[in-house]
Amino acid sequence: MYLVSVSILLVASASALDDSLISENSLAVPAPVTTSETSVISCTCGVFLSGQFKKGSKQQPKGNPALLHEQSDLFPCNNVGNKMCTNKCLDVIVKHLPNSPTILCGSVDRDVHKERAYLFVKNCKDEWVNTNLSAGREYCCKDGHPYKCPLIR
Ligand SMILES: *[C@@H]1O[C@H](CO)[C@@H](O)[C@H](O)[C@H]1NC(C)=O
Repeated sequence: MYLVSVSILLVASASALDDSLISENSLAVPAPVTTSETSVISCTCGVFLSGQFKKGSKQQPKGNPALLHEQSDLFPCNNVGNKMCTNKCLDVIVKHLPNSPTILCGSVDRDVHKERAYLFVKNCKDEWVNTNLSAGREYCCKDGHPYKCPLIR
């Protein structure tokens, strides 16, 4: 169960992250210094279910994330920084996977029928960015508990 879930996530993420290999040089690029900025948002990971957002839309997801994890890391406020944050979140979320159906179903206050879990990140801005990475499986929850999704709806 654990190994299967992890490998599915890694397959789903490997292709999407191909272009995220970061060289030493780009790591050395300093983040823009914005002294006037009062609250910089550190890298934050959120997992939202597919029922909470429109695919391919810039709209913010609705409601609370099923999983939320705030890192202390500050990354550059650009696409490279967003990808570093995404990679950090993948590390953290892979560790949570063994119990993910239980955790997911326990944290959403509604029943879930065959929804996928997508990784969103916040980096610098208080705005969720859809990484388009999903756990590669569907979740079904009733009364806060996971059950095996039926093959046919
Ligand atoms: C996710 O997909 C949408 C629509 O295809 C695209 O506009 C967006 O840039 C993608 N996000 C990332 C982080 O690649």
